[in-house]
Amino acid sequence: MKRKIYLVIFLALAVLLFVGCSDNGGSNEGTAGESPGEMLTLDLIAKISDEWKSSPHQYGVKATEGRGISCGQCHDGVGFADREVYVNTDVDFAPAHQTGIDCQACHSGFGKKLLDTGLAELPFMDEPFKGGSGAVCVACHNGNANPAELFAQSKAGELKRLSYPHYGANVDLLSGKGGMEIPGVEYIASIAHGTTENSCVTCHMPTTADGHKNHTFEVKPEDFDQTCGTCHDKAFTKMTTLGGVQNEIKSYLNKLEQAILEATGAERIDHAGGVFVYYDRDGNEVTGISHEAYVATYNWQLVHVEGSYGIHNPLYAKSLIRESYKYLTGNEL
Ligand code: HEC
Ligand code: HEC
Ligand code: HEC
Ligand code: HEC
Ligand code: HEC
Repeated sequence: MKRKIYLVIFLALAVLLFVGCSDNGGSNEGTAGESPGEMLTLDLIAKISDEWKSSPHQYGVKATEGRGISCGQCHDGVGFADREVYVNTDVDFAPAHQTGIDCQACHSGFGKKLLDTGLAELPFMDEPFKGGSGAVCVACHNGNANPAELFAQSKAGELKRLSYPHYGANVDLLSGKGGMEIPGVEYIASIAHGTTENSCVTCHMPTTADGHKNHTFEVKPEDFDQTCGTCHDKAFTKMTTLGGVQNEIKSYLNKLEQAILEATGAERIDHAGGVFVYYDRDGNEVTGISHEAYVATYNWQLVHVEGSYGIHNPLYAKSLIRESYKYLTGNEL
């Protein structure tokens, strides 16, 4: 009920403001482009552009330049906006210059479609992911892999490449569905973070003091009241709590990594050309990696490269690491 009253007041104010603006515009006849309404819009665009310029989205990742639509669909603004054209037809995607993930990427073509529908297809889910305005993020920030398929092939000894989840596997963790799960094992996952109305946008694009969605895409402690405070109390959401949970996940990851190294006889795990590579003390490649070691490495990499160190889905991150450890070593972590 209260909400409705606010809405009515808001609408009334909006109408007043609109009438005010058009009056003004009327008295300025002949100077189109200078009406206050338009200046406000350009001002907003300038602010948003400045924010965007501080985000890595302004760049394309160098390693993907000139590599066609397989990389360009997520690493090039044009490639993403026109993803459906290039992926579904044999029109060649070969831009002379790489374009960053710019305004057009998210606000035109494929990006706009995702913003409008709120639904994104993911390689590891049968149903589209319901992400609200965050669906646009999810279309790129996924591991670009189907771990259930990879698991089955690995188990049957038919896996040709020890593939790893791609660097932006955020929704894989957030959704609690994109880890490499062992069939029959029950995984515990947090629900709350992955089911907010606008997914990534809820926490990564808070509303600024002047009322627009922040385009730096950063989660900052000063915004915690609006991003986390709707569910957590203020004392909890201090950065120190975050750090505590992240450090716990990091120590879990270290233990899992040690177990993988012991089981494979490797000294370090690297990845190149889409596959994990294991090296021994003398720098020689270790081969004959077991199925269990591969499953563990996949989940280790997923939680590691994903970047939130478990915050996106604290329970799922722990569960994935624990079950992988047990599968590999036979012991509880
Ligand atoms: C499904 C979307 C998607 C596809 C397809 C994709 N990438 Fe990415 N890639 C991402 C995202 C999102 C990130 C950013 C992850 C982050 O920084 O959190 C990323 C990050 C990277 C990085 C790391 C960049 C850094 O600064 O750390 C490299 C390297 C990379 N991608 C290479 C490639 C190559 C090469 C291809 C094509 C073979 C490719 N990617 C295809 C989404 C994708
Ligand atoms: C990575 C994706 C992405 C990029 C890049 C991006 N935007 Fe947005 N933008 C969004 C999302 C998501 C919203 C929120 C939409 C919603 O709430 O429905 C938004 C909202 C907006 C709005 C509506 C006002 C507001 O803030 O609520 C404007 C205007 C806008 N963006 C302009 C721009 C401009 C200009 C650029 C380039 C400098 C840009 N955007 C780049 C994703 C993006
Ligand atoms: C067209 C693909 C694409 C879309 C859409 C996209 N991103 Fe990204 N994002 C990337 C790539 C690629 C990078 C890495 C850029 C680099 O490192 O040079 C990145 C980087 C980031 C980073 C910085 C990561 C880091 O490690 O510093 C954040 C945070 C982020 N994106 C959040 C979002 C959010 C939130 C949305 C939705 C509003 C979104 N992204 C939409 C491709 C995308
Ligand atoms: C939609 C409600 C909601 C929002 C928004 C939300 N959280 Fe949570 N969060 C939860 C719930 C519920 C739990 C505990 C149960 C679970 O893990 O599912 C949780 C768990 C956590 C945990 C793990 C706590 C532990 O002791 O294991 C951390 C850390 C966390 N949230 C941080 C944040 C941060 C930081 C933000 C904002 C950037 C945020 N949350 C936003 C609902 C929310
Ligand atoms: C519940 C709030 C919440 C949601 C929802 C959420 N994030 Fe995050 N994200 C965080 C927090 C908190 C961090 C950790 C920030 C830190 O360590 O400084 C983080 C970290 C990240 C990082 C790596 C660190 C960086 O550079 O910012 C990326 C990339 C990222 N998130 C992308 C996404 C994407 C894409 C989605 C949607 C699939 C998403 N996030 C959904 C809260 C959230």
